[in-house]
Amino acid sequence: MENQNIKKTILSGVQPSGTLTIGNYLGALRNWATMQYDYNCYFCVVDLHAITVRQVPAELRQNCLKTLALYLAVGIDPEKNTLFMQSHVPAHAELAWVLSCYTMFGELSRMTQFKDKSAKHSDNINAGLFTYPVLMAADILLYQPDLVPVGNDQKQHIEIARDIANRFNGVYSETFKIPEPYMPKAGARIMSLSEPTSKMSKSDLGDGSVFLLDSRDVVIKKIKRAVTDSGSEVKYAEGKDGINNLMSIYSAFTGKSFEDIEKEFDGKGYGAFKLAVAETVADSLSEIQDKYNVFISDKEQLNKILIEGAQKASYTAEKTLRKVYRKVGFYSVK
Ligand code: TRP
Repeated sequence: MENQNIKKTILSGVQPSGTLTIGNYLGALRNWATMQYDYNCYFCVVDLHAITVRQVPAELRQNCLKTLALYLAVGIDPEKNTLFMQSHVPAHAELAWVLSCYTMFGELSRMTQFKDKSAKHSDNINAGLFTYPVLMAADILLYQPDLVPVGNDQKQHIEIARDIANRFNGVYSETFKIPEPYMPKAGARIMSLSEPTSKMSKSDLGDGSVFLLDSRDVVIKKIKRAVTDSGSEVKYAEGKDGINNLMSIYSAFTGKSFEDIEKEFDGKGYGAFKLAVAETVADSLSEIQDKYNVFISDKEQLNKILIEGAQKASYTAEKTLRKVYRKVGFYSVK
């Protein structure tokens, strides 16, 4: 039975900074698609966050729409959920400003993602990269969610959002619900195929990432080339990062346990295993791609979803923002 009042609320988002990978699918999108039945869900495309790293405007615009079409292609229903672009709801940027005045320079300096990204983009260490977690806190706190489904690497960002919310509530009385991170059990962390000690990334232009829109041939080529150690036994073991990663991918797509996989490939070697992983991934992606192609070719429908999504999101977001403006002491004519 559907009852919005007793359902818990969740919010999550993905940056449109490239094409989504199987890591995004297994770690986020696929879980969202199952959570939509049990939760009141807000899913956004966080375009404001994407420009903390330099983007080509025409590509960013395309990637925003592609990301939405992929949300739909994996089965996230725009009737059941609120799907929207972050930049279409001005309250995100507005709350971020207010929250930035309740966030300490020291705590932002300690964020590992900031340290990593400023090392990677040393020619563009902009203030937005530094205040990124404040905007993310605003994304979350505007919707008063109970849970925020994220990958492990985002846990620190949820922590700081909670700290900011608690600080604000402490000064001005209860305003924000304190959200919990929600880490899905399976497939939360898919690693790069070429460098299996680092996370699979949307911006990897080499063979390390399998993109959701890669063709069958490309998927098979990339997985066949995946880095593995010098052994030959398909067994999950400490230090065998490449094989462990392929086993995680295979397990996530087939539902088979590591034990089952070890039995299935007993005595068969890496070559046969890689081929099976490649075929499985390519088959799953082609299903998603068929649906994606239908959605992406109907821009009118995508726009309609975005307009309705922004309206629904704004309704909730504005309510929180008004409350915040009142509490901090801004004069209102209403
Ligand atoms: N920082 C997240 C990431 O890179 C994206 C994000 C932005 C997000 N705002 C959010 C995720 C709010 C969850 C909730 O993956």
